[in-house]
Amino acid sequence: MQKKSSDEYYKPAEDTLFLADNIQNEKGSTALDIGTGSGLLAKVLSENFSFVVSTDINFNALKKAHEIVENCICCNAADTLNCNFDLVVCNLPYLPSEEIDDCAVDGMTEGLGVATNIIQSASKTIRQNGKLVYLTSTLAHYQELVRRTENLGFSVKILARKKLFFEELVLVECVKL
Ligand SMILES: C[S@@+](CC[C@H](N)C(=O)[O-])C[C@H]1O[C@@H](n2cnc3c(N)ncnc32)[C@H](O)[C@@H]1O
Repeated sequence: MQKKSSDEYYKPAEDTLFLADNIQNEKGSTALDIGTGSGLLAKVLSENFSFVVSTDINFNALKKAHEIVENCICCNAADTLNCNFDLVVCNLPYLPSEEIDDCAVDGMTEGLGVATNIIQSASKTIRQNGKLVYLTSTLAHYQELVRRTENLGFSVKILARKKLFFEELVLVECVKL
C-alpha cells in the first residue's frame, strides 16, 4: 500500500486484485463497495449483482469510478445509504498513522480508527445473513478489528491471507447475525 497525493485516487494494486479474486464468485441482488477508488471492485461485483453502489470520501476517485460503474456516491462509508445490501466489500485504509494525510491508506491508531468507522457504518446497511468482506493487514491490529466486528453482531472468519514483502494481507469475511 503506497501513499498517494490527495488529488489522486488509489490505483488498483496487489491488495485490490487479491480482494477482487476473492469476491468474483459472489452472487446476489445488491452490493456495495465502500472506498471504491478506481471502481474496479464495484465493476467486478456488477458481473454478478443486479444493483451495485460505490462510495468514496475522495471525489476524484468517484469521478474515475464513474467512468466504469454507475451509482457512485461521495460520502463517509455507507452513511447516506438506506438499503439492505446482500454484500458489502471494502479494501480498508489500514496503515497505522497519527493523522489522515492520505485518506486512501492512513488508518489512524493501530490502523483501527478509520476501519472501525467504516465497519460501524457498513453494519447498518447489511441484511440479516448478508456479508461484509474487508481487507486489512498484519501492519494493523487486525485481531482487535475482528473483535470489534464481532461486537457489532457479525460472525467473523479469516477467509484468506497473502504474504507481501513487509506485511501479510488479511481478508476477513463477516456474516451479519
Ligand atoms: C486502499 S484504498 C482502496 C481503493 C479501491 N477499493 C481498491 O481496492 O483499489 C481505500 C479507499 O477508501 C477511501 N476512503 C477512505 N476513508 C473513507 C471513508 N471514511 N468513507 C469512504 N471512503 C473512504 C479512500 O479514498 C480510498 O479510495
